[in-house]
Amino acid sequence: MQLRPFLLDMWLATYDHDIEFNLAASEGPRWTLNGILSLASEAERQRFLNHKLAYSRPAGAEGLRAAIADMQDVTVDAVQVVTGASEALLILMWLAAEPGANVVLPQPGYPPFSALPESLRIETRYYAVRKENNFRIDLEEIKQLADRNTKLILINSPHNPTGATISDAELDSLHEFTASREIQLVSDEVFHPIYHGQATKSASRLPHATVIHDFSKAFPLSGCGPVG
Ligand SMILES: Cc1ncc(COP(=O)(O)O)c(C=O)c1O
Repeated sequence: MQLRPFLLDMWLATYDHDIEFNLAASEGPRWTLNGILSLASEAERQRFLNHKLAYSRPAGAEGLRAAIADMQDVTVDAVQVVTGASEALLILMWLAAEPGANVVLPQPGYPPFSALPESLRIETRYYAVRKENNFRIDLEEIKQLADRNTKLILINSPHNPTGATISDAELDSLHEFTASREIQLVSDEVFHPIYHGQATKSASRLPHATVIHDFSKAFPLSGCGPVG
């Protein structure tokens, strides 16, 4: 397998640490464990501190799944906990990796969107997120890129790096299109609910969409370990 160099991570390794003000970060303010624990009741704090560090259930701890289900207004069975949005992307690309398959992705986009399928030798097709169009998606362009070998169409709203969103009506239309063609619609919503304009609804309300969410952005809990 050939993974092309992750230029963003290389740039971050050089410039993202040991600086006072990071205007380019994708997460918010940084929590300390003490800061988080101070939000909890004494009983919750004790439960956390006495939690046994062991393998969890494969789908994720029941309490966590129930809390996510509640937040996303879906059933608990619809929730699968993985290690960050990155692992979710990897799993979905593996699932798409059938002989002759193609996937439809935004351009520009978060670099692993394209690097992962490329490494798995899946054909990548791109719809443009253009400045002239206020970085909005063009539904017709996306639909025209898809054919009978398209396994997955990925959307990202709010979009990294532009912050543009996909309207509820656009999402409904794309969902109808993908569902009727048995194409997996994947909605990367790691920046939901951080909006610079009008908030849009999560794709989790749609029966055939897979939504990727994480703790790094909206909750500033990327948890990567000690930083300066
Ligand atoms: C659009 C997008 N998707 C996925 C990820 C990966 O998220 P995680 O840190 O949860 O693996 C990022 C990280 O910046 C991102 O910007």
